[in-house]
Amino acid sequence: MKSALVTGANKGIGLEVAKRLAQHGFFVYLGSRNLESGEAAVRQLNGLGLTALEAVQLDVTSPESIWAARAAIGVKTPVLDVLVNNAGISGGQPQAALHATLEQFRAVFETNVFGVASVTQAFIDLLQQAQQPRIVNVSTAMASLSLYADLDNPNFAFRVPVYQASKAALNMYTINLAHELRGTAFKVNAVCPGYTQTDFTSHQGTSTVAEAGERILKYALLGPDGPTGQYFSEEYFPAPATCPW
Ligand SMILES: NC(=O)c1ccc[n+]([C@@H]2O[C@H](COP(=O)([O-])OP(=O)(O)OC[C@H]3O[C@@H](n4cnc5c(N)ncnc54)[C@H](OP(=O)(O)O)[C@@H]3O)[C@@H](O)[C@H]2O)c1
Repeated sequence: MKSALVTGANKGIGLEVAKRLAQHGFFVYLGSRNLESGEAAVRQLNGLGLTALEAVQLDVTSPESIWAARAAIGVKTPVLDVLVNNAGISGGQPQAALHATLEQFRAVFETNVFGVASVTQAFIDLLQQAQQPRIVNVSTAMASLSLYADLDNPNFAFRVPVYQASKAALNMYTINLAHELRGTAFKVNAVCPGYTQTDFTSHQGTSTVAEAGERILKYALLGPDGPTGQYFSEEYFPAPATCPW
C-alpha cells in the first residue's frame, strides 16, 4: 500500500486532500500540530469508511515535532510515496509592504517557507525509497511575480504582501528542489488550490474544498510522464493550468 503525508491535514484543504488520497488507496498520515484535532479528523474520515489513516503530531515550525513525526512514521513504513506540504498561514490583516512588522514576516515565513523546507528535508530519505515519489507544495497564484508586477492589473488587485512574499519564496524553493531531483523519478510541483472556502478565507471564495482538494490530488498522483518543477493554477488558467511564475 502506498503512503502519503499531508501537513495541516486536520481541516480545510489538507483534510480534503487526505480524504482523497485515502480514497485512492493510500495509507495517509494526517499531520496536525494539535494531535487531538488530527485524531478528530481521522474519526471524521473513519465515518466515511476510510480506515487507512493515522494522525501524527506535526508542527512544521518545530524541529522537535518534525523529527518526532519522522521517527514515528519511519517505524511504520520505510517508504513515503507522497508528501503534500499544505500547512500554511496568511499572517492576518492588515498587512502592507510599508507597515507589516518583522514579527508578521517571520511568523509567516516560519510556516510557509522554512516549515516546508524542514519537513521536506526530514522526509526526503523515505520519499527516495518510493518508485514514483511526488511532492506537492501548496502555493497560490497570488505568489506569481509576473501577474502582480503589473501594478494596474485589475484582476489581481487584492494584495497581501507578507503572505505573497512567503509563497513566492516557496515557489523558488520548489523550483530548486525539482532541479536538484531532476533525472530521478521525483515530481515536484507548486500548485494553487484556487480561492477556496475555508477558515483561511473566512469561508469566502470561488472554489469549494472539494474542487481545491481535487486540484492538489492530481499532482500527487502524477504518472511518470507528468511535469516537474512547474507551477499550476487550475482556477485561473485553462488546461494545462500553467501559472506564470
Ligand atoms: N483557502 C484558499 O483560498 C487558499 C488559496 C491559495 C492557497 N491556499 C493554501 O492552502 C493551504 C491550506 O489552506 P486552507 O485554506 O485549508 O487553510 P486552513 O483551513 O486555515 O488550514 C490550514 C492548515 O494548516 C495548519 N497549520 C498552520 N500552521 C501550522 C503549523 N505551524 N504546523 C502544522 N500545521 C499548521 C492548520 O492547523 P491548525 O488547525 O492547528 O491551525 C490547518 O490544518 C495553505 O498553505 C494556504 O496558503 C489556500
